[in-house]
Amino acid sequence: MSATPTPALGRGVADDYEPFCRAFRRLCGIDLLQYKRGQMERRIRSFVATRDVDGLLGYAALLKADQAELERFLDRVTINVSQLWRNPEQWEVLEQTILPDLARTAASPHRLRCWSAGSSYGAEAYTLAAVARRALPRTQVAILGTDIDARMVRRARAGVFTLDDARDAPTATLASHFSMVDGAWHAGDELKRLVTFEQGDLLQVQPPRAAYDLVLCRNTVIYFNEDVRDALHGRLAHSLRSGGRLVVGATERVAAPAAHGLEPELPFVYRKS
Ligand SMILES: C[S@@+](CC[C@H](N)C(=O)[O-])C[C@H]1O[C@@H](n2cnc3c(N)ncnc32)[C@H](O)[C@@H]1O
Repeated sequence: MSATPTPALGRGVADDYEPFCRAFRRLCGIDLLQYKRGQMERRIRSFVATRDVDGLLGYAALLKADQAELERFLDRVTINVSQLWRNPEQWEVLEQTILPDLARTAASPHRLRCWSAGSSYGAEAYTLAAVARRALPRTQVAILGTDIDARMVRRARAGVFTLDDARDAPTATLASHFSMVDGAWHAGDELKRLVTFEQGDLLQVQPPRAAYDLVLCRNTVIYFNEDVRDALHGRLAHSLRSGGRLVVGATERVAAPAAHGLEPELPFVYRKS
């Protein structure tokens, strides 16, 4: 693991960042040392500076004692931003070409297995469910969403989204799969039957070989160290069947696709050889 020098430390000042990360990992299992240090440390230190504590180790003690503060800090570090139909151009490609091709070449006819890796509060998995219903109305689709943040997993299971979450959603498709209740969009039963959500750490997961036709891992690895990100892309590729696809965020890339048996197909789509 490459260690980036600490911008906030002066000569002779003890490095409390690593001990803080280890204390935080003991508290909730999230290993912040695997994330890009520069940006993560700046996020953490600027947050902690607004608290009345003695440095990061004082803050670690506060997190241990105060569940509400731990929740606020989790919001700060896990960065759960998502939305329905995020990057609509990607969903267009999935609906028009990728999903139909996956259905044609699936190992079990009429059955697709999909994984939303880093699913946050479920917007991506429900969008995939709605898009799959349109593209492949007769195909059985199973979508697993996993996220490290248990609070997001609970929200994802509920399947309730704000108006802002739906700002880029196509109006007719949204209305046919979600219902508006008390000012929020609620996923309908047809979508809910397709999705399941579990808590899981992508840095620990060893998914089985060839378990999925489609893996979405978007806007999640940008916070990981490069070697951690590349190793994860390798494990995600391993989980795809031959001809399966890995979809990354609109501005993301797999660093060495061939090393993982992946062929670039579109800037954000990789095909497993
Ligand atoms: C910015 S959201 C992306 C959500 C969705 N994929 C999208 O593109 O809209 C990133 C998610 O990754 C999750 N995450 C961060 N580190 C993780 C890890 N080690 N394992 C699993 N999920 C993680 C965060 O909790 C957060 O919900």
